[in-house]
Amino acid sequence: MKNILYALAATAALIGGAKAQTFPTQPIKMIVPFAAGGPTDVIARLVGEHMSKTLGQPVTIENITGAGGTTGITLASQAKPDGYTIMMGHMGTHGAAPALYPDLKYDPARDFEPIGMAAGTPVVIVARKDFPAKDLKEFAAYLKTNGDKIKQAHAGIGAVSQMTCVMLNSQVGANPTTLTFTGSGPILSDLMAGKVDYACDQIVNLVTQIKAGSIRAYAIASAERSPVLPDVPTTAEAGLPDYQVTAWNAAFAPKGTPKDIVVKLNAALGQAIDDPATRKALLDLGAVLPQRFQRGSEWLRNFVVNEIARWTPVLKVASAK
Ligand code: MLT
Repeated sequence: MKNILYALAATAALIGGAKAQTFPTQPIKMIVPFAAGGPTDVIARLVGEHMSKTLGQPVTIENITGAGGTTGITLASQAKPDGYTIMMGHMGTHGAAPALYPDLKYDPARDFEPIGMAAGTPVVIVARKDFPAKDLKEFAAYLKTNGDKIKQAHAGIGAVSQMTCVMLNSQVGANPTTLTFTGSGPILSDLMAGKVDYACDQIVNLVTQIKAGSIRAYAIASAERSPVLPDVPTTAEAGLPDYQVTAWNAAFAPKGTPKDIVVKLNAALGQAIDDPATRKALLDLGAVLPQRFQRGSEWLRNFVVNEIARWTPVLKVASAK
């Protein structure tokens, strides 16, 4: 009996290994839990395009929006764990969501096989171009004075734009009316049209419009200015030193995806980040690329655990305010 079990286990291992060797034999779907054209989508498409070349099969993007990205990630977490459905998660879906959704249908630390970090994206405080404040101090004072007359946009509870503005609002004492969108792409259109007043958004979504003057940037929430937006002061320079936040985007597969397949996907993602054209495209948008030690699956697994631990108390306090 024991021998039969060993033989079965050996056959299963052989089949698994053979599968990984031939993987992929069909297109890979990468679920993006926000609207097309926003930061998550742009990063997923840039790395996905290069991963397609490495893997020899198209990596196609599917945008499944809703509930601050948690709708798409819930569906992705339930997909068959065969490497053909993966997802681009971020600081909100895999770091903040547990603090903000008591009934979250997935556990970011347990229900995924991390593939790898794709990019860091510093947060920028932006407003419609004619917002009546010349700098961050005036902006903060205006928000405080005008309360719910001010309209702040975000991409749903737990989205980066929501959680980071919860923090900003709690720090400056703002209490705006909030409007929910399916992603930062549509937020940007409404900011440019002057239909909303401000947002806390990721740099990757904003560089072109800030440079063109079609929206106004008050500060970047990173320790140093971005090389692509050298005129935008840091929050420390602008008088809000405690507001520091760089979001991140990372690829994940559903739990149970074979390790060999995750290794292949991780390598393809790493090659995308090292590809000169992909790298340049990401850097031109202000993304911060992961260093080598930040690229492994296990590194990402630990990072997610730490992010949940970091955000849960901060967001509980800030949301309560
Ligand atoms: C997006 O891709 O639209 C954003 O990442 C949304 C957000 O998290 O604010």
